[in-house]
Amino acid sequence: MKGIILAGGSGTRLMPLTTTTSKQLLPVYNKPLVYYPLSVLMLAGIRDILLISAPDQLPGFRNLLGDGSGLGIRLHYAPQPTPRGLADALIIGREFVGGAQVCLILGDNIFYGHELPMILREEIAKLDGCTVFGYPVADPERYGVALLDSAKQLIGLEEKPTRPHSNLAITGLYFYDNEALRYAAELTPSARGELEITDLNRRFLAEGRARLVYLGRGTAWLDTGTPDSLLEAGLFVQMLEKRQGVQIACLEEVAYRMGYIGARGLEELIRRAGPSSERGRYLARLLETAG
Ligand code: DAU
Repeated sequence: MKGIILAGGSGTRLMPLTTTTSKQLLPVYNKPLVYYPLSVLMLAGIRDILLISAPDQLPGFRNLLGDGSGLGIRLHYAPQPTPRGLADALIIGREFVGGAQVCLILGDNIFYGHELPMILREEIAKLDGCTVFGYPVADPERYGVALLDSAKQLIGLEEKPTRPHSNLAITGLYFYDNEALRYAAELTPSARGELEITDLNRRFLAEGRARLVYLGRGTAWLDTGTPDSLLEAGLFVQMLEKRQGVQIACLEEVAYRMGYIGARGLEELIRRAGPSSERGRYLARLLETAG
């Protein structure tokens, strides 16, 4: 399975923070926002990843992440000239994905949960069509929303409904079989002028090949769309990291624990982080204890 991180958009709700920089490069406590979705893909076992962003923002991502070789992954970059919608990622990424399955994740979605990597790997193994992840929220009208029957089977998907039929939001993480590339190319823009991911998911649903996985209390799915939610996400990460002494979305750690790099690779990353920096010391401890 290949991975796509969609990290474009205009970030209007976060102006002036996003006037000169991309939303997904803004800090969430001690690391850029894009680290969080990237770590999710890496934890799911996905190592070949395309990052899509606005043409003028791509250099920032390249400077930050490079070609991924230090982390034992392959990172590629592609521009999205205008924010035409989430499903556009599968049109832009067509050549990159080739004949593979694909996971699309939004560059501003933060997921956290002990069992999440295992859930994701299990879902990849049984993927047939499309898999979406539902999360209960207090304000479902802001999201794609799932409609379930009495047996809790997925029977409908709606994009930002004014009167939601459930409180189950569809998160910005999607698994697809290869047909998604063709289906995305056949989509027509919605009333708001976008190629809607919900329309793509509905097509799989109509074929009886859309699966909903419920992410319940054991997982946190955080929003970063407004100054308040961005700050709250940072405070959440800070609180967990300080309390537990472990980092969330530390890409070097994920690469090492997943076996994408060995001790030598980690030593090199410690050197680059600066052995006396907080991050360098954290990674050095990891090398000592896990190595
Ligand atoms: O976060 C989950 C939600 O994401 C889903 O529940 C919705 O079904 C889905 O439509 C989407 O809703 P949003 O209204 O949050 O999407 P938004 O337009 O804010 O875009 C999400 C991120 O993707 C944002 O960081 C900007 C980026 N983006 C967006 C578009 C439309 C792009 O990079 N390119 C685009 O063309």
